[in-house]
Amino acid sequence: MTDLQIDAHGRLRHLLTTEGLPRALIQRILDTAETFVPEAGVPPKKVPLLRGKTVFNLFFENSTRTRTTFELAAKRLSADVINMDVAHSSKSKGEDDLDTLYTLQAMGADIFAIRHPENGAAARFAAHAAPHVAIVNAGDGSHAHPTQGLLDVFTIRRHRPDFDALRVAIVGDVRHSRVAHSTIHALRTLGTRDIRVVGPRHFLPADPAALGVSATTDTAAGLNGADVVMGLRIQRERIEGDALADVADYHSQFGLHAANLAHASATALVMHPGPINRGVEINADIAYGQQSVILEQVRNGIAVRMAVMAIIAGNRAPGGGPPSA
Ligand code: CP
Repeated sequence: MTDLQIDAHGRLRHLLTTEGLPRALIQRILDTAETFVPEAGVPPKKVPLLRGKTVFNLFFENSTRTRTTFELAAKRLSADVINMDVAHSSKSKGEDDLDTLYTLQAMGADIFAIRHPENGAAARFAAHAAPHVAIVNAGDGSHAHPTQGLLDVFTIRRHRPDFDALRVAIVGDVRHSRVAHSTIHALRTLGTRDIRVVGPRHFLPADPAALGVSATTDTAAGLNGADVVMGLRIQRERIEGDALADVADYHSQFGLHAANLAHASATALVMHPGPINRGVEINADIAYGQQSVILEQVRNGIAVRMAVMAIIAGNRAPGGGPPSA
């Protein structure tokens, strides 16, 4: 996987996963993203780093945040942007995904942001993409959602820059969450050792040690003293059969509500990648409460996606990269 996303000179070629992404590269993405965060009250500026480039948003699964922030990010980098409406595309006539890729490449695509229900789909597209074309994984199955993982650590860094000392609790359906996997890999690479995943046994990863996390079904223990508490949606679209027998019981045990959150640090950041399911994994008063940085995560997605696309494009154009932070 790393061969596909990192070139022979150690530069980012595609972004497929945060697993194995070098620490220096993650830090460069985060530092570059900082340069793209507009000052408070100042309208965002356009920069010409992707002028003349064409970005295709190719989403085989639904999205609100990721698709629109990729579009905003590409537009702020001065790219032309095409949002493919896959539900109404020729896929319905039997076109293979790779034939769609080749067709859009023939129109002059430079970067694809691809979301797909299959694990490993982004790598499959990258393996078949033309040499000048970059693939950015916008979420593939339960495997990875690297720009979400990066925007999560970017958001955390803006509030709690000492990753080594951080205690992070990730609560809910971790097993089926591509976000959890990408955020955990990024956190581990940045130095965080105390990462707890919390949920009912069937939502916990099969091998927590391999992920570098501890796992518990005890919410009080998992949240105890945590500096960051991240809630996760139940990924019903990736679960066969009944995902949950009793929503009220799940909410009581594992939902982010005042009683459960009281186990965390009083200043803990509350995070969630969205979309949230109110009254299931989080309460609205917590999602929009004082400790919540959920809408910051959304906003930071623009800067982080700008950084990723600018760095990739700069790696293909000598002297044309984003300013070093
Ligand atoms: N966090 C996230 O991926 O949200 P969307 O599904 O709305 O893009």
